[in-house]
Amino acid sequence: MTERKKIAVLISGRGSNMASLISACMDPAYPAEITLVISNRPGAAGLERAAEFGIETATVDHTEFPRDREAFERVLNEKLKQHGIEFVALAGFMRLLSPWFVTQWRERLINIHPALLPSFKGLHTHERALEEGVKLHGATVHFVSAEMDDGPIIIQGAVPVLDGDTPDTLGARVLAVEHQIYPKALELVASGQAKVKDQRVAIAGEDADLADRALIVP
Ligand code: GAR
Repeated sequence: MTERKKIAVLISGRGSNMASLISACMDPAYPAEITLVISNRPGAAGLERAAEFGIETATVDHTEFPRDREAFERVLNEKLKQHGIEFVALAGFMRLLSPWFVTQWRERLINIHPALLPSFKGLHTHERALEEGVKLHGATVHFVSAEMDDGPIIIQGAVPVLDGDTPDTLGARVLAVEHQIYPKALELVASGQAKVKDQRVAIAGEDADLADRALIVP
């Protein structure tokens, strides 16, 4: 087997997506391993969860860098380099990253967003989906560009919006899909199958089919 790619996961909170990536990496055939988890919030629940799996954790508290986003990111970047990180996965990391950081990690930085992008960028996606009366909602894993919740799409997962849904019930349905598509997307990226070409993701490989880029949950 070729060497597994070293992944850092950046979190701000509970880290359920991080945990789904950690679980996927337990398969020795999976092309990636998570060797570092960094939170920008001290005490984020996900840090403890990562430590229970024996993964090294660190905190880079953004509040220690008021008015200087790049100083925060330089520290972050230094930690990633020290650990020989090859790809970075944002998993509920609630800080905007500057063009400088995004450029450092171009095509090696991915994010999960709880909506079918480009719809519902930003916060409160489930509330807004219900307000708009959409019939399908979901989640997107994408390469990160300098714009918020933007960049070439790797995989999307769609779920129905049901009568009587609340932001919580809809959010739980979307989260279940997030936990399925994020490990799949990281696998495609770490194995080199998913590549950016002309601002789109092309998926190489004999078994590349719709299931590699779209998950539809009935
Ligand atoms: C997830 O739903 C993720 O998609 C979302 O935050 C949640 C984190 O949950 N991310 C964003 O909104 C980023 N724009 P988790 O900590 O349990 O993975």
